[in-house]
Amino acid sequence: MEWIVVRDYDAMSEEAARRIIERMKAQPDLVLGLATGSTPVGTYRRLVDAFRRGEISFARVRTVNLDEYVGLAPDHPQSYARFMREQLFDHVDLPADAWDIPRGTAADLEAECARYEAHIRELGGIDLQLLGIGTNGHIGFNEPGTPFESRTHVVALTASTREANARFFERPEDVPTHAVTMGLETILEAREILLLASGPSKREAIRRLYHEGPSPDLPASALKHHPRVTVIVDEAAAADIR
Ligand code: GLP
Repeated sequence: MEWIVVRDYDAMSEEAARRIIERMKAQPDLVLGLATGSTPVGTYRRLVDAFRRGEISFARVRTVNLDEYVGLAPDHPQSYARFMREQLFDHVDLPADAWDIPRGTAADLEAECARYEAHIRELGGIDLQLLGIGTNGHIGFNEPGTPFESRTHVVALTASTREANARFFERPEDVPTHAVTMGLETILEAREILLLASGPSKREAIRRLYHEGPSPDLPASALKHHPRVTVIVDEAAAADIR
C-alpha cells in the first residue's frame, strides 16, 4: 500500500484526478471502476474540467460502479446511477451504453449480481478502481464481517451506514435498508486501486487501516492483499497515522 498524505480535500481531489487523467491518456479504452459519496465529487469535477479542456476523452472508456441501493430506480434522485450522471456522465463524452451500475430495482437481485459479475468479466476486468471508505471501514457497501472472498451480492446496510448516508435523503427512514455491492474479491481483482479519504469522520477508519493487519472487521483492510493500492488521504483523515 502506498500512502500519500495531502493537505486537504482539494489537494486529495487534485492528486486523484491527476492519476486518473494520466491512466486515461496512456490507455484510452481504460475500464474504470467508480465510486459514489461525497469523497470523489471533487475528483469528478476535475475530470469534467480536463474533458472540457480537451485533455481527455471518455469515448472509448467503459465504467462500472461499486454499488447501488436496492429499491431505487436509476432515475431516483438519490440513486447512485443518478448521482453518477449528475457528477460525471452527463458532462463528458462517455457513450450512453458504456457505463454500468447494479440495478437496484431488478426483480431478481441474485440474477442481477450474476449479470454484473459477467459484465465485468466481459470487459476484461477493471483497470483502475476508485474507492471511498465508510466511517466503519466499509468499501463499496461491504460492511464489517463481509468475507474477503465475496463477489457481487445483496447486503443489509448497518445502522451506522444508514445514518451516515441519511444526509442525502429527506427523512432518515427513506434511506434504503439494502444495497447491491461488488464483493471484496471483485474489488481486489481490479488491476490498480485508488482509495480516497478526507476529513475527521474518516480518521478512525484510516487509523485502523494504517495500523491493523487484514481482518474482515475492517473491510478496507482486504486491500492489504493487493499489490497496487494507493491511498490518498488529507491531513484531517490522516491525523493518527503520523
Ligand atoms: C457509501 C458508499 C461508499 C462510500 C462511502 C463513503 O456508503 N457506498 O462507496 O465510499 O459511503 O461516503 P462519503 O464519501 O460520502 O463519505
